Amino acid sequence: MVETWNPEQYDKLSDYRRRPFSELMSRLGAGRPQLVVDLGCGSGGCTLELALRWPDARVIGVDNSAEMLDTARRNDSGERVEWVRADVESWDPAQLGGQVDVIIANSLLQWVPSQMGLIPAWITALAPGGWFAMQVPGNYNAPSHTLLREVAAKSPRAADLLPRLGRSEAVSEPAVYFSMLAGLGCDVDTWETTYQHVFAPGVLHNEPVLEWTKGTALLPVFGVLTDQGERAEFVAAYGRALSQAYPLGRFGTVFALRRIFAVAHKKDDPR
Ligand SMILES: C[S@@+](CC[C@H](N)C(=O)[O-])C[C@H]1O[C@@H](n2cnc3c(N)ncnc32)[C@H](O)[C@@H]1O
Repeated sequence: MVETWNPEQYDKLSDYRRRPFSELMSRLGAGRPQLVVDLGCGSGGCTLELALRWPDARVIGVDNSAEMLDTARRNDSGERVEWVRADVESWDPAQLGGQVDVIIANSLLQWVPSQMGLIPAWITALAPGGWFAMQVPGNYNAPSHTLLREVAAKSPRAADLLPRLGRSEAVSEPAVYFSMLAGLGCDVDTWETTYQHVFAPGVLHNEPVLEWTKGTALLPVFGVLTDQGERAEFVAAYGRALSQAYPLGRFGTVFALRRIFAVAHKKDDPR
């Protein structure tokens, strides 16, 4: 099932969501790339940053969500980026007609079960000296996700919900990405960061983690629970569980979120 993305909900927290992208990009040393591809570009904010960083480059944003791409096109008033609707599982870099200098996959691969089979083809598509950069959340065992599965397990729709909810196998550990990318002939930089996102008292009705997950982790639940009553009941139960796990303290609500990063620089002469 393909999730229906809601750009407005996703972008509510764009200040927090954008920081890992900036930190990922700070480790990418491409000078003057000619062809840059942002896979899973979403509503395009990060893609437009790529276009600003490399004003002479051809920049392509690829996503399979019509809703996200509509917002991306609206955000790109100067029509700077080529927006392409495609599933990255079938997207073929050969169709670009030339080697790619930079491929970005920021906060995408957790949604793509075949990721380990796709990355080698993307590295092959890179020009010698090209760059690949990815970031995935590594929080599948955090309360935000374990509670989602617990609430789903108690739901009358458990049988439909549980197979669709993210588990830790959705992403790999940094060392796994490191070995794979190094084995493909790249110099590799991998790391992880656990952000302590702080939401001041009152922000997002003191339910910031619920609002966060409404834009991401809850999407598969919404895909199953199309009845509004059923959905509201689920969200209320999950919200109650979250407020215990992420209580409002004196300085606000703290949401710890681990993220995993990898930047690969393809060697000029990979051996
Ligand atoms: C969490 S958002 C990240 C958006 C953007 N990269 C950013 O960092 O703001 C994930 C995006 O990946 C897209 N996506 C998920 N699976 C995909 C697939 N198989 N093919 C193409 N896009 C996909 C979704 O539509 C969504 O826009």
